[in-house]
Amino acid sequence: MSAATRTILEDSDRDATATALQENLVDLIDLSLQGKQAHWNLAGPHFRSVHLELDEIIDTARLGSDDVAERMATLGASPDGRVGAIEGATRLDPFPGGFQTVEATVTAFADRMADTIEGLRKSIGTLDALDPISQDMLIAISAQLEKQLWMLQAQEA
Ligand SMILES: [Fe+2]
Repeated sequence: MSAATRTILEDSDRDATATALQENLVDLIDLSLQGKQAHWNLAGPHFRSVHLELDEIIDTARLGSDDVAERMATLGASPDGRVGAIEGATRLDPFPGGFQTVEATVTAFADRMADTIEGLRKSIGTLDALDPISQDMLIAISAQLEKQLWMLQAQEA
């Protein structure tokens, strides 16, 4: 069953596009969840600026995941944002448990942002031949995350 009863993409292109979008949906949801873990467990100098900065990055990841999921539905492919789907498919390393210093948090979270961006850029390449609208969406998300990564990692000693 699908709400998209009229065809936008041929089946094979739609399926390949949906596969690429689902991979990035998973990473973006995981990034947003790990961002809150980092936001809550931060301790040390410059706490407040990094605490607030993490929420800005989370907003990008959450809005991006919503765009990606709704693009999948638009194409007639069911987005899967369930916990099990995220756990089984995320390409990000798990965030370390417990309180973390600001320095450790910046490095760990910047690494996960870079992995998310790597996945987005891989799909931007794949989508070139499949669906320019989905490709454009991922370009916009990656552009925001790349700028936020610059600002986060600029704080590394
Ligand atoms: Fe908060």
